[in-house]
Amino acid sequence: MNADLSPPNDSGSLPGIIGSSEPMKRVYQLTRQVAKSDASVLLLGETGTGKELIANAIHQLSNRKSGPFVKVNCGALSESLLESELFGHVRGSFTGAVNNRTGRFEAAHMGTIFLDEINSTTLQLQVKLLRVLQERQLERVGDTQTIEVDTRILAASNRDLMELVREGLFREDVYWRLNVVPVVIPPLRERREDIPELVTFFLNHYNEINDRYVVHIQRDVVHALQSYHWPGNVRELQNYVERAV
Ligand SMILES: Nc1ncnc2c1ncn2[C@@H]1O[C@H](COP(=O)(O)OP(=O)(O)OP(=O)(O)O)[C@@H](O)[C@H]1O
Ligand SMILES: [Mg+2]
Repeated sequence: MNADLSPPNDSGSLPGIIGSSEPMKRVYQLTRQVAKSDASVLLLGETGTGKELIANAIHQLSNRKSGPFVKVNCGALSESLLESELFGHVRGSFTGAVNNRTGRFEAAHMGTIFLDEINSTTLQLQVKLLRVLQERQLERVGDTQTIEVDTRILAASNRDLMELVREGLFREDVYWRLNVVPVVIPPLRERREDIPELVTFFLNHYNEINDRYVVHIQRDVVHALQSYHWPGNVRELQNYVERAV
């Protein structure tokens, strides 16, 4: 028998992700559990909490890790550009469509697609998303041929999507399809015990890349950092340390 009898290390940290507070341990545990499945995952958390890091970790820990990881920022493109980015288009389907184009869902075949800022998609686009979420089928813009994809879907939002559903800005059916497993990443102010560890991590990082050596940060400075509310979360802390170095 070849069974691995070592105890599961489910709450162990994830590579490159710092913080050993209880709330983060729960995030690591959930991330590890969900990574092995093909379930859609919705990552929720304020800006700068590490949603993209967790999305990456899910892909890396999954059976799809040798496949592509494709990230699309849904907030960065207009509706029609996003549609052709995601689904592709055929030549002549709109002004400027001079060539056929493969969409990102197809590009992520056998891998994972990460739909960042999913909250900024329009209701109309969400109809097309629903079909891929349910059937793993799509048509390129301007085409009638149906394409099947084997793509795992991760999505992130820094707004409460259920609230958007209530406001009529997000389709409830899409919400439930995405929200098979919700992973909520707590804001930094709810896990202040992670702050010293993060400061040390970023200090080492920026010392190294700037070829500097700042021995350490004084204890009262660490205390001050721990009592600040960090609206920009880990990203804000990271920027603070970079400036300090
Ligand atoms: N736990 C962590 N350990 C180390 N670095 C972190 C952690 N959380 C976040 N970061 C760093 O903070 C920055 C922001 O993280 P990330 O881009 O994953 O946040 P986000 O939740 O996607 O934010 P946004 O909603 O603004 O897109 C990145 O540089 C990331 O590497
Ligand atoms: Mg992000």
